[in-house]
Order: sequence, then C-alpha cells, then structure tokens
Amino acid sequence: MEVILLDSTYDISVAVAEIIANQIKKKPDSVLGFATGASPVETYKRLIEKYQSGEISFKDITTFNLDEYCGLSREDKNSYFYFMKDNLFGKTDIDFEKVHFLSASTDYVEDECKKYQSEIESCGGIDIQLLGVGTNGHIGFNEPSDEFTDGPFKVKLTQSTIDANSKYFENGNMPEYALTMGVGDIMRAKKIVLIATGESKAKAVYSMVKGEVTPKCPASILQTHKDVTVFVDKESAALLKYN
Ligand code: F6R
Repeated sequence: MEVILLDSTYDISVAVAEIIANQIKKKPDSVLGFATGASPVETYKRLIEKYQSGEISFKDITTFNLDEYCGLSREDKNSYFYFMKDNLFGKTDIDFEKVHFLSASTDYVEDECKKYQSEIESCGGIDIQLLGVGTNGHIGFNEPSDEFTDGPFKVKLTQSTIDANSKYFENGNMPEYALTMGVGDIMRAKKIVLIATGESKAKAVYSMVKGEVTPKCPASILQTHKDVTVFVDKESAALLKYN
C-alpha cells in the first residue's frame, strides 16, 4: 500500500485524475470502478476538464459503481446513479449502455447481485477501482462486521453511515438499506486508488494503513492488495505521523 500525502483536495484530484486518464489512454476500453460521495467529486471535475480539452474520451469505457441505495429510482436526486450522471457521466461522451449500477429497487436481490458479479467478470474485471473510506472504515457499503464479504449483497447501513450521509437527504430521511459490491469484488480490481481527506477520516485512515487487518475495519484489507494507492491530506493523515 502506497500512501501519498498531498497539500490539498485539489492536488489530490489532479493526481488521481492523471492516474485514471493514463489508464484510459493506455486502454481506451478500460473497465473503471467508480465511487460516489464527497471524496471523488473534485477528481470527477478534473476528468471532465480532460474530456473537454480532448485529452481523453469516455466513449469506450465500461463502468461499475460500488453501491446504490435501496428504494431510490435512477431519477431520484439522492440516488447514486443520479449523482454519477450529475457529477461525471452526463458531462462526458460516455455510452450509458456500458454504465453498470446495482439495481437496488429490485425484488430479486440475489439474482441482481449474481448478475452484477458476472457482468464484472465477463468484462475482464475492473482495471482501476476508485474508493473513498467511511469514518467507520467502510469501503463501498461494506460496514464493519465479523467477516469480510465477497460478492455484491444487500446491507443494512450502520448508524455511523446514516449520520454521515443523512445530511444529503431532505428531512434527513435516508434509506437504511443499500446494495453494494462486496470486499471480494473490490479486492479483485487490478488497481485500487482511495481518496481520504479531512479530519473526520483520520481514525479510519490510521486503522486502514497501520491497524490490524480485520473486518471490523473493512478498509484494512487493502493492506493485502498488491496495487493500492491511498491519497491523504494533512488532516486525514494526522494520526499516521505519530506512529
Ligand atoms: C460511495 C461509497 C462510500 C464512500 C464513503 C466516503 O460510493 O461507497 O464508501 O466512499 O462513505 O464518503 P465521502 O466521500 O462522502 O466521505
């Protein structure tokens, strides 16, 4: 695991967008795993700039998003599909036929999860998986638990995740369930890039980088992946420098 400390969210976004752009240039039909939430937003802006300047095209890439809230339609402003459309996809030449999301409104959860996993496999696996980390150490919506998960599944979100994300929902009423890729799906990505910024992530960053590998901090398993780069700022890295 390589940990790179940069001065600002902007600097991190430039560095991460460069990694993703280089991947697209090397392999125009790359398979990219994307995350939602605050962490990747600036990176998505840099990618849009690269698209607008003609440096990269999204038209041949295939994407898989990490997770989606149960019960929200794609048109719902709080759905992660809407988030990706608004923050990246809709501002590029991406082919929406190649955009994959777990369909979290389905009544057939098990089938949907199996289908998603086999779609990832049949695309040859994910070339780069972009991640954020929850304040509780979650990746995707793999919450702290007693064992690491493998394939996609339906998860009941923990109170800490609800506390962190309910600010995005009017009246604070957010879904309690989501579908998420499992830890195994994330670990099978060829390369993983994680962004963690701000003081609220300091504990999670410490446990992920220096702590025991344990499902109590799902992100800690990234220590065992052969190609992980973690981008941090001074605030999120605050606990690392004392150890
Ligand atoms: C989002 C996701 C989550 C977030 C994490 C951090 O698709 O899977 O794991 O990456 O909750 O969220 P932010 O970036 O909002 O702090």
